[in-house]
Amino acid sequence: EDPKNLVPRPPVVCVMGHVDHGKTSLLDAIRSTRVTDREAGGITQHIGASVVSINGQKITFLDTPGHEAFTAMRMRGANSTDIAILVVAADDGVMPQTIEAINHAKAAGVEIIVAVNKIDKPSANIEKVKQELSEYELIPEDWGGSTIFCPVSAHTKEGIDNLLEMILLTAEVMELKANPNRNARGLVIEAQLDKGRGAVATVLVQKGTLHVGDSIACGSSYGKVRAMIDDKGQRVKKATPSTPVEILGLNSVPAAGETFVVCDSDKEAKSFADTYIS
Ligand code: GTP
Ligand code: NA
Ligand code: MG
Repeated sequence: EDPKNLVPRPPVVCVMGHVDHGKTSLLDAIRSTRVTDREAGGITQHIGASVVSINGQKITFLDTPGHEAFTAMRMRGANSTDIAILVVAADDGVMPQTIEAINHAKAAGVEIIVAVNKIDKPSANIEKVKQELSEYELIPEDWGGSTIFCPVSAHTKEGIDNLLEMILLTAEVMELKANPNRNARGLVIEAQLDKGRGAVATVLVQKGTLHVGDSIACGSSYGKVRAMIDDKGQRVKKATPSTPVEILGLNSVPAAGETFVVCDSDKEAKSFADTYIS
């Protein structure tokens, strides 16, 4: 990609950590909505994507489940992001899926910011969390290391502004850029068959701009983008780099983690899909 075609894009930030350490609550606090209340049993079972705007600066957040059954989703989450927020409950400390999340983030080469959550709890022990994470080479800055630790409470919202500031600072150093003026490509975050709407895929645009009417191929699926819905539930006509969007119009349900590409014609998209080898 010619550097002169690149323009700044928002960071894609994945929230990871052990089950019930407060990932979704933290995102709710950031968005000030109440997603956890809508989740059956409070267990996240899919990757939710949302865009938050702070003083005009956007951050794309991906939520991931902490339950041990969702290893593949955590891996996908880490692979599609620039920065991982590792959520560790201050009362619980490092747990099996905390370690798994660290491994996925490191394997994907993403920057890790630690959010020590639930600091409102009397049993919170931030120093113990720092100690435990030091064993995984996540050494806090005040201990001479280079990992940013942000004590937060999703409940009281203490530390949330600081966490957002640290995300934006980290992203700034990374100088994230993409070319918006080319055929879009990106990743399928998740997809399912909807009774009324057919195949519905939530995709993350990584390069280019995706438009309604584009011919796309996605694994062995293909089609023309019939409609796009953003994270706020609004219909949109285009999606620029780092934007998550739900798309309708694929002929079948693509696999999560699959790459999508925009082709120059329906015919090209179909032949692209037909020759796909998984
Ligand atoms: P999974 O997606 O199932 O892995 O869970 P999660 O990490 O998204 O955690 P979730 O947001 O569902 O929160 C789990 C529980 O912890 C809920 O009962 C929350 O109310 C509680 N919780 C989350 N954040 C805080 C916090 O800052 N303080 C306290 N006291 N409780 C919290
Ligand atoms: Na939960
Ligand atoms: Mg959750």
